[in-house]
Amino acid sequence: MVDLLTFVNEHPINESSIKAALAREGKKVEKLVPSDLFPYDQDHYGGLQAVKELAEKARFSANSVVLDVCSGMGGPARYISDCYGCSVVGLDVNKSRTLSAARLTRWVDLGNTVSFVCGDAGIMPLGQNAFTHVVSQEGFLHIEDKGALFRNCREVLRPEGRMVFTDWIASPNLSSHERNILRDGMAAVGVHTEVEYKNYIFEAGFDSLETEDLSSWWAKILPERFKMYQSKSKEAGEAFGLRRFEEFINAYGAFIRVLEAGKLGGMRFTVGSL
Ligand SMILES: C[S@@+](CC[C@H](N)C(=O)[O-])C[C@H]1O[C@@H](n2cnc3c(N)ncnc32)[C@H](O)[C@@H]1O
Repeated sequence: MVDLLTFVNEHPINESSIKAALAREGKKVEKLVPSDLFPYDQDHYGGLQAVKELAEKARFSANSVVLDVCSGMGGPARYISDCYGCSVVGLDVNKSRTLSAARLTRWVDLGNTVSFVCGDAGIMPLGQNAFTHVVSQEGFLHIEDKGALFRNCREVLRPEGRMVFTDWIASPNLSSHERNILRDGMAAVGVHTEVEYKNYIFEAGFDSLETEDLSSWWAKILPERFKMYQSKSKEAGEAFGLRRFEEFINAYGAFIRVLEAGKLGGMRFTVGSL
């Protein structure tokens, strides 16, 4: 079974793979602008299009104070700040990702508005009522205690704040065998049905919720993403060993099969004052 630390630290998308991609384009770290990173730093499904749709739901403005939970290498945080001029804090439990996120942000000169905190969203090391928005993309599947997660998100949000996130959604017929495959291969310890998610959200004190089913979009784009990962055998094999790369590919293949069987999908949740 892969633990979250290994899954994230030995992931084919990482700071070195971004640097290698920029070098292939002949781009120098000292001369980068945020958009140079966008093709490479978005570690969720649907790339910038997904962040744009999330941003529309969030209704950011220049005065927004945004928390990106499970921020990874900070791609969405930088995009949001660059587009709206607002301040964004990224929270991620992984130290190496947090350090990469801060470095990439310095390269593109967004350090005045975008910052990163290394910490667990299940504990939430941030102040009450500090944010106008909480966002997240494809991170919550790694968090088992959703009760604590949503209570924490409610606490750091101002009363009129909005929370928008996307995540995997289990269909009620996802078997325990398939759940175990996803947990063991992709550190997906917190996979829920839509009904379970709704219960957690309302129990945390949110009073309104809109959902959008992204499953058919994801079913189109995820096989492409799988092909992109398969093409990274040399680079990822050299970085983390071929055996680890093959484990990753096998786990991702199993994930795609569960998705294609219609037992797993994607959903966007817009929560709070609608
Ligand atoms: C697939 S990446 C998504 C990164 C980012 N949202 C993006 O779209 O580019 C998932 C991230 O969630 C983080 N994560 C998992 N559990 C977490 C927790 N309990 N608290 C904070 N971050 C967590 C992981 O370290 C990883 O960087």
